[in-house]
Amino acid sequence: MPKPYIPNDKWSQKAASEGYRARSVYKLMELDQRLKLLKPGMTVLDLGAAPGSWLQYSAQRIGPKGRAIGVDLTAIESIAPNVSLAQLDVTNEEALLALLAAEHIERVDLVLSDIAPSTSGIKDVDQWRSVELAQSVIAIASRFLRPQGYCVVKVFRGADFDELLRDIKREGLWKDPRVLQVQASRDRSREVYVALKRL
Ligand SMILES: C[S@@+](CC[C@H](N)C(=O)[O-])C[C@H]1O[C@@H](n2cnc3c(N)ncnc32)[C@H](O)[C@@H]1O
Repeated sequence: MPKPYIPNDKWSQKAASEGYRARSVYKLMELDQRLKLLKPGMTVLDLGAAPGSWLQYSAQRIGPKGRAIGVDLTAIESIAPNVSLAQLDVTNEEALLALLAAEHIERVDLVLSDIAPSTSGIKDVDQWRSVELAQSVIAIASRFLRPQGYCVVKVFRGADFDELLRDIKREGLWKDPRVLQVQASRDRSREVYVALKRL
């Protein structure tokens, strides 16, 4: 019989003991503390949301009057009555637009994305895919985020990272991007969160 999975790092153990689906929840908690992202009543879009720990935390912070929409390639188990879930590819803009229209969403207060490509083992390829995913997330945020709203997206640092930041600045839609590292990241030298505030 296969042995049950027992998490062996402190963040995973903490997440399991506190009822969160993933250790990544502590990354969002830190980002929330530093940037004051989540407030009661907000509408939040989480792109690349499975298994759903960011949605669990967001649902607590936005409360019953808030709304969250979680999207992932993988199915996400239901979270709370005010959290809608969809299984789709965030690079499929048409499908994402159809989802938001079906949910009657014209504007969101916050876009969160802890998105990560399935890793190939080739560092440069994974980094380039991570940048591509971040670009898709930012494209959606440019259309749907309210003025002064935040988009926070994970990116693997590497060769294409500076170009991504230059493109963001060139777009002229955002206040200067902030690049943040968080305590709970496994690979803090590579994994960062880019926080953009819509002008
Ligand atoms: C690190 S996990 C997110 C963890 C999540 N924040 C949580 O707390 O449970 C990254 C997710 O990005 C998703 N992902 C990767 N590429 C995607 C794509 N093109 N469209 C949608 N989701 C994608 C993966 O399926 C994976 O579930």
